[in-house]
Amino acid sequence: MSDPLSHWNQVYRESRPEATSWYEDSPLLSLDLLERSGLTADTSVIDVGAGRSPLGSALIARGLHDVSALDISSEALAQLDDAGDTLQRIVADVTTWEPPRQFDRWHDRAVLHFLTPRDAQAYRNVLLTALVPDGRVVIGVFSTSGPEACSGLRVTRYDERSLEEFMGVEFEFLETLRHTHLTPWGAPQDFLWILAQRRT
Ligand SMILES: C[S@@+](CC[C@H](N)C(=O)[O-])C[C@H]1O[C@@H](n2cnc3c(N)ncnc32)[C@H](O)[C@@H]1O
Repeated sequence: MSDPLSHWNQVYRESRPEATSWYEDSPLLSLDLLERSGLTADTSVIDVGAGRSPLGSALIARGLHDVSALDISSEALAQLDDAGDTLQRIVADVTTWEPPRQFDRWHDRAVLHFLTPRDAQAYRNVLLTALVPDGRVVIGVFSTSGPEACSGLRVTRYDERSLEEFMGVEFEFLETLRHTHLTPWGAPQDFLWILAQRRT
């Protein structure tokens, strides 16, 4: 396999949105969980591994003015709807990123499951640096009944226990739910979603 940066840039250069399994018209579940985490216009949100997701522009349309989209692929972020140029784009590998500031909310749909155990630990360290002390996270990963691979890459699947173990004592799970995403060609993909609160 090519390195992750080349892999993802190639995917976004060569595939239309509807040709990628993770495509969704509207990020309804992400918006719902973020809404349930408590949002005001002043809540800062970072979407890590945002890809071409419309989540950032939906949050801006919802009235938030401090929304960031981070992805390893500059190609993906260049294709994002910029919602009037207010969406902040960060090209970075989430496992090595050094956050220059903190955020109230951390959102990840379908990124953590691509990471090896070592990279996942690095992700957790970055999360702990990037999140405010009483911040909340919304994370969606393939569940143990989900796919074993995606975009040609092997994934790590999680259940409630392994995800709670991974997140560690710093986080209290407020909600967990299972959701089946349907790819644009109708294939089911089982996800596990969490809304978790950082313990102060
Ligand atoms: C399956 S896509 C999901 C995209 C988006 N979250 C969505 O729901 O449409 C996975 C995304 O993670 C990004 N990604 C993979 N590894 C990454 C890393 N180490 N750091 C930052 N982004 C990464 C990819 O470029 C890709 O955009």
